[in-house]
Amino acid sequence: MARFECNRCHEGAGQPVVGRNKHCVRCHQEILDGRFDVDAVTLRRWQGNLRSLPAVPSLTGIGRRLRRDWLAKYLQQPTDLRPALPAMMPSLALGDTQARRIATWLVPDEGPAITLPASPAQLSLGRTLIEQKGCGSCHAFSGVPALPATPPPIALRDAERRLGLLLAPDLRYSRERLQSGSLVGWLRDPKSLKPDTAMPTIPLSEAEAMAIASYLMQAPLSAITPVPVPVRLPLLARRVSFVEVNEQVLRRTCWHCHSTPEFAMGDGGPGNTGGFGFRPRGLNLASYAEVLSGSLDDAGQRRSIFLPLPDGTPRLVAVLLARQRELAGQPVPGLRGMPLGLPALSKEQIQLVESWIAQGRPQ
Ligand code: HEC
Ligand code: HEC
Ligand code: HEC
Ligand code: HEC
Repeated sequence: MARFECNRCHEGAGQPVVGRNKHCVRCHQEILDGRFDVDAVTLRRWQGNLRSLPAVPSLTGIGRRLRRDWLAKYLQQPTDLRPALPAMMPSLALGDTQARRIATWLVPDEGPAITLPASPAQLSLGRTLIEQKGCGSCHAFSGVPALPATPPPIALRDAERRLGLLLAPDLRYSRERLQSGSLVGWLRDPKSLKPDTAMPTIPLSEAEAMAIASYLMQAPLSAITPVPVPVRLPLLARRVSFVEVNEQVLRRTCWHCHSTPEFAMGDGGPGNTGGFGFRPRGLNLASYAEVLSGSLDDAGQRRSIFLPLPDGTPRLVAVLLARQRELAGQPVPGLRGMPLGLPALSKEQIQLVESWIAQGRPQ
């Protein structure tokens, strides 16, 4: 795990703690909470731009909660589990064997599965309790009738509610992800399995928690409509300059992973000097000259990011389109979608980049 620097986003699982200037999430949180030591004007500007990685689940106690097979699959092809979190687990350069090894390290000893009662009366009791106990104020549950947003019958501070909402998984995935043996214990006392969890303790009797667990694991699920791949817009007829592309796309979203050590505080970001287990690609998107100088291929040779792939699409555009496809569950073999682990650019932003390239990349 050390090679992949999981600890630059996740705490827990016995990993060494890294300093703030290396930690994507802690630094962003300090900025968003106004605790970062910088002048007020800069702080406000940063806060206005910053949306990515505002929080992340810790890996504490993961071995007692998640299923190993699910984890091995997820590490290789992450999906969006938390609808309110504007970031996902990035797709890392991890093969099948590595993913299995990490999953076995994180979940060395899965507890025995249990069978939960599944009678219609039990499921209907579970549903009623989920509505009454306010689970829907934080959780989505796609595939069953929408949960009401009733608040839970306990007092929560604003910060707890905000973090709880950001980090609450869609309950649709519970049955694939969770060890059934620890679920009732989790529902009654989440902190007993994960001391730093943002899930609050809502008083439930053993029988109530059992009924809820039955509903979570066994309520019939309807298929979810797949996220459509956005249409590709035609090239713009008006002139597009680098200044505009930089403002609308590169500076706004890409610089933090593809820029200079001065900007990215310490290194040029994982997309330039390497990180998260990626080889250095040497791609700096922070100036016109650097963008033109391209990136390093697998053999360490410089190549242009504008060179067309076999279907005629320039590589830069292809990686942006690949991100849209990844989010629709259709990853493109051999291309990693950009921005890595973040929402895809809008079709208008991609149109802008594509038009700029087609116009000969004017400055
Ligand atoms: C750039 C930040 C980043 C890095 C690096 C990263 N992750 Fe994640 N990871 C995330 C985010 C964000 C989520 C939550 C995504 C969601 O739930 O939609 C996540 C989710 C997870 C989850 C699911 C946890 C849960 O309770 O749902 C596991 C397990 C995980 N990551 C393991 C790893 C491992 C192992 C590594 C290193 C090999 C790693 N991550 C590296 C950002 C990161
Ligand atoms: C030392 C603090 C710090 C660290 C560490 C840090 N960031 Fe940032 N990040 C910022 C600031 C400040 C901004 C806003 C910059 C601006 O306004 O131009 C930002 C902006 C971003 C943006 C663009 C805005 C957005 O929210 O989409 C992305 C993407 C991003 N960071 C990703 C990362 C990733 C990935 C890491 C870890 C490799 C990381 N950051 C580490 C401080 C940090
Ligand atoms: C204040 C917001 C909040 C409320 C209310 C809440 N939860 Fe959660 N829940 C969370 C968060 C945050 C997590 C993720 C915890 C973590 O990984 O540390 C979570 C995790 C879970 C999980 C594990 C899901 C997974 O895939 O990892 C289940 C199951 C769950 N909650 C069920 C419930 C039920 C049932 C209720 C109502 C009795 C409820 N929650 C109420 C915030 C909330
Ligand atoms: C969270 C960090 C992160 C963000 C944000 C990000 N990238 Fe990347 N990017 C990477 C990493 C890491 C690689 C290397 C991937 C690999 O080796 O498979 C990469 C690779 C690339 C490549 C391929 C280079 C090559 O020759 O294979 C392109 C092009 C690219 N990024 C463009 C962008 C653009 C444009 C944006 C903004 C819209 C962006 N990236 C945002 C981390 C990031």
